Amino acid sequence: MERQELKDIFDEVLIEGEAKYMEPMSAHTSLRIGGPADIFVMPRTRSSLMNLHINCKRSRIPFFPLGGGTNVLVRDGGIEGVVLSSMQFRNKEAVKEDDTHVYLSVDAGTMLQGLVNFSRENGYSGIEGLAGIPGTVGGAICGNAGAYGYEIKDVLVSVERMDSEGKIGRVRADEIVFGYRSSGILPGELVLSAEIKLRKDEKREVSARVDNFLKMKREKQPLREMSAGCVFKNPSGVSAGKLVDEAGCKGLRTGDVEVSRVHANFFINKGKASASDFIRLMEEVSRRVKEKFGVVLEPEIKVVGRDAVN
Ligand code: EPU
Repeated sequence: MERQELKDIFDEVLIEGEAKYMEPMSAHTSLRIGGPADIFVMPRTRSSLMNLHINCKRSRIPFFPLGGGTNVLVRDGGIEGVVLSSMQFRNKEAVKEDDTHVYLSVDAGTMLQGLVNFSRENGYSGIEGLAGIPGTVGGAICGNAGAYGYEIKDVLVSVERMDSEGKIGRVRADEIVFGYRSSGILPGELVLSAEIKLRKDEKREVSARVDNFLKMKREKQPLREMSAGCVFKNPSGVSAGKLVDEAGCKGLRTGDVEVSRVHANFFINKGKASASDFIRLMEEVSRRVKEKFGVVLEPEIKVVGRDAVN
């Protein structure tokens, strides 16, 4: 579809919000890698969001919902069609409580760490192990984010989502199939908000657990560098990072992407890395691990978009 054609559709549809054309995705990913999205849209109201969704479908424009961009690798040719950001929707509030628990309604664009901090300040327990995980609550739900035995699915009561037809509805969490770093939320669906249930606890104790997990993370993971977190899923019963490390890959480099010397399942953008550098390094690391251990690694990050046209 021609750019002008896309522009016409969007000028008509996007009543409240912002649309940017040929927006570099490197500005919206923690890796700082990724070619341009044809259109990057940040609607401010739900009705604009719904209109967009419906019009994309009607005009057969591909559609990609983006959370915090912290678990994706966007290829160098960028993303065809529309990238829809939910970052403007970030309200969170307690909606009910009983003697032991509090129920929060949380918008998809809320930063997960904002939620962890809120829980710590109020003495709400259940997501301490998620401390230090970047990204939005919507993204965390889609990928069932977790660490140290905690997973976001364990505190979810329900998820409000827009289906691929543009209809908004609420599903109970126990109706969604969650797995290790995966959820039954489909690619064409958009998470709008969620209700989560946290246990009332002593502020001091929640805070101490959060601090402890953060300390462990800072010691074992390169949190200050440009990465997308763990690149590969852990094969059953073993850490992918350990396999990559023992295959001698720490410090291995392709272009400006390097296997972290701190934790081998993190690949770092050392400056001006491209997605093709990143993918070549993934292939080389997989090859070495397969050769040494006979194990085939599976990506944990989502690789999206089109290859660059040379
Ligand atoms: N190890 C090494 N070398 C390395 C990295 C790890 O020998 O370079 C060893 C460690 O010494 C330890 C074992 O491997 O004995 C496990 O390491 P770690 O505790 O760091 O856990 P992990 O299995 O590598 C998983 C998750 C992380 C999560 C941590 C903590 C995956 C792919 N990784 O890592 O999640 O933060 O446990 O719970 O599930 C992510 O999803 O992006 C992520 C970083």
